[in-house]
Amino acid sequence: MAGSTTDQKVEAENGGDTETRRDFLLISTVSVGAVGAAIAAWPFIDLMNPSADVLAMASTEIDLSSIEEGQSITAMWRGKPVFIRKRTSEEIESASNVEMMDLKDPEQDAARVQKPEWLVMIGICTHLGCIPLGQKTGQIKGEYNGWFCPCHGSHYDTAGRIRKGPAPKNLEIPPYKFIDNSSIRIG
Ligand code: FES
Repeated sequence: MAGSTTDQKVEAENGGDTETRRDFLLISTVSVGAVGAAIAAWPFIDLMNPSADVLAMASTEIDLSSIEEGQSITAMWRGKPVFIRKRTSEEIESASNVEMMDLKDPEQDAARVQKPEWLVMIGICTHLGCIPLGQKTGQIKGEYNGWFCPCHGSHYDTAGRIRKGPAPKNLEIPPYKFIDNSSIRIG
């Protein structure tokens, strides 16, 4: 009887240890998860909080004269990347020949550009804020030959309109105007 009581005590103690260990593991996992989420969110939060000198730059002028047809550059405006592409005639044609009913966020190509060859837009995916691929030669451009956001697979066309994937909206067009034939002011 005495042995049995001791066994029960040991069992109870072991059971208590197991519970404590399990609680600890659970708490540790939750804590690590929270820290992980905070670290993952930081670059995005940081991107959304540009430094004071960047904020002060309300507008920026870009010289387009050295950009060849089919080339893109990325400018910075208020801490955000701005994609500027000199589109080829094929890209313009493909962007113009799209039925509005095929678009998730219907917008005519002509409504997104001031001159057909120049596409100017903020290079931030409208899903969760990643910077899509497609600016550099050799990068994946997605199924619509524009830009591709690999985080969850959003495909944008040659007008920067969302065509496939979770992003809800087209890439945003910033306020800009042509100062002359080969330069623009953004902002
Ligand atoms: S942020 Fe672009 S698909 Fe998720």
